[in-house]
Amino acid sequence: MKDQENFVNHIRPRFVPNGVLSVFYTFCLGGLSFLAFVLIGITGLLLMFHYQPGDRTGYNSILTIATVIPYGGVIRNLHYWAGQLMVVTVNLHMLRVVWTHSYKPPRQLNWLVGVALLLLILFLDFTGYLLIGSQESGAAATVAVNILRLIPGNVGRGLAQILFGEPSALSGSTLVVYVWHCVALPMVALFLQLYHFWRIRRDGGVRPL
Ligand code: HEM
Repeated sequence: MKDQENFVNHIRPRFVPNGVLSVFYTFCLGGLSFLAFVLIGITGLLLMFHYQPGDRTGYNSILTIATVIPYGGVIRNLHYWAGQLMVVTVNLHMLRVVWTHSYKPPRQLNWLVGVALLLLILFLDFTGYLLIGSQESGAAATVAVNILRLIPGNVGRGLAQILFGEPSALSGSTLVVYVWHCVALPMVALFLQLYHFWRIRRDGGVRPL
């Protein structure tokens, strides 16, 4: 097998340009975001063993996880706080990219990938909040559905159905939200992050333009 066909050689850099390891250039904010994503993935998978989406079942299973399941409260808190941390680090990472002008060519495509990632992470955070199934999440789901329904024709109604299903005003937890939050959005986000990392290397690595 030729050297460049070897996957391990492909993911490891052949050389590291001078200065790129400086923590004070990136503050490792992208790396921290990915670390949070991995932690969220692992704790999210553990939560899935006991969480049941639905009008009544959603909130009840959260209570069971927090009070009955061994270490359930710790896992839930880790999942929740890693999610909040990720929203903060992704935003700070974007500010760093703006600060160092790293959105300029040839990195403009990776900037756009980043924007898509930001939107995905925010929607993941929102759907997670709906899955708590509390009255607050019911209210949040109702507001989101009502805003979407303002889009004329049946477009808004259809979009609301696709994104949220039929949430009740007392609980935002539906099967539709659950599948977006636990399967579809994380898969797209993971794929985009891997592409983001590959593009960084393709665009010449992390260093001042
Ligand atoms: C899931 C969210 C994200 C993850 C995990 C992530 C991860 C990373 C990592 C690990 C780097 C290498 C340098 C560093 O650590 O700062 C990087 C670079 C970069 N990111 Fe992100 N990123 C995310 C979101 C974003 C967003 C929201 C934007 C902008 C809208 C963005 C734009 C960029 C650009 C342009 C670079 C190249 C920077 C340079 O070469 O200086 N990323 N990203």
